[in-house]
Amino acid sequence: MSDTSAAPDKIDRLIHKIESHPPTPEFVAGTKVPADIREQAAADRLGFWEARARELEWATPFTQTLDWSNAPFAKWFADGQLNVAVNCVDRHVAAGNGDRVAIHFIGEPGDTRDITYADLHLEVQRAANMLESLGVTAGDRVALYLPMVPETVFAMLACARIGAVHSVIFGGFSPDAIRQRVDDAQAKVVITANGSNRKGRVFPLKEAVDEALTKPGHSVEHVLVVKRPEHEVEMVEGRDLWWHDEIAKAADTHEAQAFDAEHPLFILYTSGTTGTPKGLLHTTGGYLTQVAYTHRTMFDLRDDDVYWATADVGWVTGHSYLVYGPLANGATQIMYEGAHDFPSLDRWFEIIEQYKVTIFYAAPTAIRGFMKSGREIPQRHDLSSLRLLGSVGEPINPEAWEWFREVIGGNTCPIVDTWWQTETGAHMIAPLPTQDALKPGSAQAPVPGVVVEVIAEDGRRVDPGEMGLLTITEPWPAMARTIWGNDDRYVETYWSQFPGRYFAGDGAGVDIDGDLWLLGRVDDVMNVSGHRLSTAEIEGALVEHFFTAEAAVVGAADETTGQAVVAFVVLKESQREAAAATDAVQELRDWVGRIIGKIARPRDLYIVDELPKTRSGKIMRRLLKDVAEGRTVGDTSTLTDASVMSAIAGGVKTST
Ligand code: WTA
Repeated sequence: MSDTSAAPDKIDRLIHKIESHPPTPEFVAGTKVPADIREQAAADRLGFWEARARELEWATPFTQTLDWSNAPFAKWFADGQLNVAVNCVDRHVAAGNGDRVAIHFIGEPGDTRDITYADLHLEVQRAANMLESLGVTAGDRVALYLPMVPETVFAMLACARIGAVHSVIFGGFSPDAIRQRVDDAQAKVVITANGSNRKGRVFPLKEAVDEALTKPGHSVEHVLVVKRPEHEVEMVEGRDLWWHDEIAKAADTHEAQAFDAEHPLFILYTSGTTGTPKGLLHTTGGYLTQVAYTHRTMFDLRDDDVYWATADVGWVTGHSYLVYGPLANGATQIMYEGAHDFPSLDRWFEIIEQYKVTIFYAAPTAIRGFMKSGREIPQRHDLSSLRLLGSVGEPINPEAWEWFREVIGGNTCPIVDTWWQTETGAHMIAPLPTQDALKPGSAQAPVPGVVVEVIAEDGRRVDPGEMGLLTITEPWPAMARTIWGNDDRYVETYWSQFPGRYFAGDGAGVDIDGDLWLLGRVDDVMNVSGHRLSTAEIEGALVEHFFTAEAAVVGAADETTGQAVVAFVVLKESQREAAAATDAVQELRDWVGRIIGKIARPRDLYIVDELPKTRSGKIMRRLLKDVAEGRTVGDTSTLTDASVMSAIAGGVKTST
């Protein structure tokens, strides 16, 4: 653990009264969220979750709620059976809502497609038949490397329908990253597209999959290719198939079988503090219970809402709050393929205006980006349809929170700051917009049914006004069940720091009203534009380059992206000449982009003679962070050679 020294102004906020925004009577009128929901959850926590689970459609109703006998491996609703796709699609059609739009799809080039629940029903059944005809059966893994297009949702739900486990790989990841994930999960089929539309150009997806599969010894039998942009790709005979050809052969109806509540639903990889990404495994009944409940409660969902989460489906927000939560609730939502600034920064606001979006869920990094480009951009659009705004992925600073509320939210929309993780599966900390007075910058309170505690390093519960570490003390339905293929790593990573508690890796403060403030990661995980990146993974990529002897990576504060990747590299003696003859800095930055993906490419990279190390040989990243953030370098007394830091700081000044 490196530091809990979040911005000092945070401490102020913990001990002073903060002006908050109580819900207006107009906002609260007509809500479906019970006024006593917290009391209900507190009076009988397991009974509360049981009631939430019973709101789903079960083929075999469960009789057990939680089985924690093999902690920390939880089982929820274990003797019940259900089908996720039936819950997200069929039951809405059966209830007479087939004509309701499930997804307003908007392509980046401007093409649109409105998909009703009846359309979705047909597409998912056909896709399920198609996957079965390719030999995919329950328990098989299917990797998805796809753009934000409707087929991605069809494919995820088709997997769920037949009990196959999907592993969505973010479309910006490199061939190496794809291969690592395909191998780890032993995926039988990869579903990709011939490309994605990105800022008017084609981003090649199929080529990346081809490259990932060049080396033999992989588990993939077929690659299904969705045709999206005009872009030719090579098809490997016998292995590659066009989605449109195969789906044309598939029957329109598919009888869904119910699966055990603990049947695996998906694997999603995320960065940890050590080298390889962790494949978090989520299962069926508990996950769907909590994503559906939180989506309608924290966002106060109503029948006439038009909901929009801007997240990519490659991240957990896309899984829980674009696919499973909203569809389980029968909501109408937007799915937008492209970049927020293409063809101009007006794009998102045009969509809100045109589709009369009422609930808008985005990341602080986007909000800070818009703040920078100026309020005139949102202000030239009619955003009056909006009634609630959500924030996710990183701490939202009070200034961005206020700007979001005032400029996008017309001074009236509540802002629901939602704290959660890939591991937690669903919202864990967020205010209730129908009852809480909202505090700019605070996620405030645990979701009803969730129990958290902020503790000091010694395990003592912190007092109001103090900062500490966020832990979760009771199991929750959407919790990841394990790390795919590595139970030990699951226990070790999340449950061993404080026995009996889940430790999230985040620092948090408790203010004098008892409200929670999330303060960012306290481990070697960075958060860049709401995307988790591991310092160790980027360091690993850098040392794979033949120029590099040693590398250290830190997350430095960045006004827009929250944090930015800053790397310090020591060259091999033998490569100094070769490096001097090229633009080694550029070469190494691009290298990281190629190995992991563009999102991991360092913002700044400094070639240094030595890294600061303690006598035991540990790299002191804290000092490098000082340099990267332009601060005076802190205490260097434990270094073997204190002059290293002045050399680094001097070098950094001259190269910026
Ligand atoms: C951070 C994204 C502060 C946090 C859903 C967490 C947040 C990590 C918030 C998980 C928030 C997410 N306030 N920090 N509202 N939401 N985080 O797995 O550090 O991509 O541990 O899940 O993002 O990132 P992940």
